[in-house]
Amino acid sequence: MPIDFSAPANRKTYAGREVDASWRDAVRSLLDPAGLDVADVGSGAGIYARAWAELGAASVVGVDSSPVMLSTAEEEARGDDRLRFVLGDAAATTLPDASADVVFERALVHHVPDLDAVVTEARRLLRPGGHCLVQDRTADDVRQAASARHPRGYLFEVFPRLLDVELARRPDAEALARLMREAGLDVTTHVLWEVRAVHPHRDTYLEEIRRRKGRSILHELDDREVARLVDVLAARLPVGEPVVETDRWTLWTGVLPS
Ligand SMILES: C[S@@+](CC[C@H](N)C(=O)[O-])C[C@H]1O[C@@H](n2cnc3c(N)ncnc32)[C@H](O)[C@@H]1O
Repeated sequence: MPIDFSAPANRKTYAGREVDASWRDAVRSLLDPAGLDVADVGSGAGIYARAWAELGAASVVGVDSSPVMLSTAEEEARGDDRLRFVLGDAAATTLPDASADVVFERALVHHVPDLDAVVTEARRLLRPGGHCLVQDRTADDVRQAASARHPRGYLFEVFPRLLDVELARRPDAEALARLMREAGLDVTTHVLWEVRAVHPHRDTYLEEIRRRKGRSILHELDDREVARLVDVLAARLPVGEPVVETDRWTLWTGVLPS
């Protein structure tokens, strides 16, 4: 069953994680965030909204359709007055026209039914010269081989049916680029290997899998299947070493000409 982002049980699922340097470096290689106004659409618990502020953004508004996610994001913002969070849909954010230098959408677009409407809305929010930055996994990203650094790959070895779930919902790189171009943006795409987390011990990683934390695909498995996955991962991952959990993503950058 797909994840319910509004279920109180999931309120912390996208919280409690710090953004890694691999993500910060990738963003800084594309643009200079200092002094910019950022709209983080599908902001979840605000992990990346906080990262944009730490990179020097003047303001960050997080938009999410889940009140539960927004309340966690507000708690975690710890009173930083550069951050605010509003309830809204990615296709109708309620934010003003031309109010953002950056529209950022991470791990959002594979959850939305009408990508065209989401791209049109992102374009509406952008100022001339602004960047729309979409980060998501394509079919190629999902199919990356399993390894100790890419343990997500084991999911599909153990439960091949999950690959069908992923392939049905993941954006096609060229189709999304075309929608962005049709909206008037100059588009480039990049591959990003982002360290999602460094788990000091294998067991801390396994505990997150057991709790289905921060990985919506695990909501497609029942409790017995999750337990089986944990057993397989325990057998494959080295004992006594940290798990450097790394995922491959695609970054679509669309610049609105000045
Ligand atoms: C996988 S989480 C990603 C959260 C955050 N961007 C991150 O990377 O940590 C997806 C988020 O998108 C939100 N979401 C899903 N569909 C949405 C929509 N149509 N409009 C706005 N937010 C949406 C969910 O509530 C959830 O918080």
